[in-house]
Amino acid sequence: MTTTQTIRIGIIGSGGIARAHVNAYKTIDNVEIVAVADLVPGKAREFIEANGLTAAQPFEDHRELLQLDLDGVSICTPNMAHHRTSVDAMKAGKQVLLEKPMSVTLDEAIEMVQVSKQTGNMLTIGFQPRYDPNMHIVRSIVQSGQLGNVYYVETGGGRRRGMPRGTFVRKELAGAGAMADIGCYSLDMALHALGYPKPLSVSAYTSNFFGTNPKYHPEADRFDVEDFGVALIRLEGGIALNFKISWAMHMDTLGATMFLGSEGGLKITPAGKGPWSGVWDGKVGSMTLFHDVLGHHTESPIPVKEHSLNLFQEKVKDFVAAIREGRSAPIPGEEILYNQAIIDGVLRSSELRREVEISLPNL
Ligand SMILES: NC(=O)c1ccc[n+]([C@@H]2O[C@H](COP(=O)([O-])OP(=O)(O)OC[C@H]3O[C@@H](n4cnc5c(N)ncnc54)[C@H](O)[C@@H]3O)[C@@H](O)[C@H]2O)c1
Repeated sequence: MTTTQTIRIGIIGSGGIARAHVNAYKTIDNVEIVAVADLVPGKAREFIEANGLTAAQPFEDHRELLQLDLDGVSICTPNMAHHRTSVDAMKAGKQVLLEKPMSVTLDEAIEMVQVSKQTGNMLTIGFQPRYDPNMHIVRSIVQSGQLGNVYYVETGGGRRRGMPRGTFVRKELAGAGAMADIGCYSLDMALHALGYPKPLSVSAYTSNFFGTNPKYHPEADRFDVEDFGVALIRLEGGIALNFKISWAMHMDTLGATMFLGSEGGLKITPAGKGPWSGVWDGKVGSMTLFHDVLGHHTESPIPVKEHSLNLFQEKVKDFVAAIREGRSAPIPGEEILYNQAIIDGVLRSSELRREVEISLPNL
């Protein structure tokens, strides 16, 4: 496909994040949003008008939108609808940019990968922090062998107060709470740097003391997901992953992301400040390499690359470029399946109050 050919895009789900998708598509030449679907009657039409999408047709049922001649779709529905809409889209021959988290259950994620393979259509998951140049530095340090054998990784983070509302806090729509909302980013950061090793087992604990308390959350009566979770995950290659995440807590931080290796350690802190920061869903604040130089304990700061990239725009641009160039998915569902397997394992383990195995089919 040439750079002057128009890429025709459909948007499924016209809530908060759909606007960010539209704004990003608008910055790319020769891209047209030709359809928007939202199951709330009238919502797609309002969205089209509010965003000046003059070429777009509104739909209530995503399957009608998928009958159009489209090159790609952005799926921006609550988590619970990610599986159905993306499977339908790929079966209808569309390339898919799916918002995070990939799905709600592992079984759903497995089917999504199977359909992507069977149809040959792309399933890319929207983890925009991957486009931070510092993320490339983290990955290249871990992959370089500088750390020796990496045997322990800690990832996650915590907001002192930062609980979303609406569809994010209802299990029937979100599937999970902090794990699915922000935990998946932290997992992606660590697993991507490691080369996405297979998760083998999980022992986890989750709670929701803040979300269910009207003192802390205005929708406490409807809040039925976790606002805190901690898990020890065994990864292939003899690596232990300590994962912790919180939407709210009486503490300033749950610590930095760190990689411990036989020859060195790498510590990464997030850049954000304020009540909603302290988690890896945006920019890197600092990176420090801990190592011995001639027997001296040494801490080497790795310069943080300043940039003015809009990470969200970068992910949408890369999706469009991948369609044009016939490339495979930039952030493949096949990889993120392991991320989803961990979240699924955390929820199962927490409910059963014991360690659970993660079994993954050969896809
Ligand atoms: N990447 C990011 O930075 C980021 C930020 C926020 C949210 N998200 C993700 O985006 C997704 C949506 O979040 P949001 O804040 O926009 O939610 P939202 O509730 O504001 O909007 C979702 C919309 O989807 C519609 N919808 C639900 N099921 C549908 C279906 N089957 N077909 C068509 N429309 C359907 C709803 O009516 C609603 O209008 C979530 O999965 C969330 O995790 C990503």
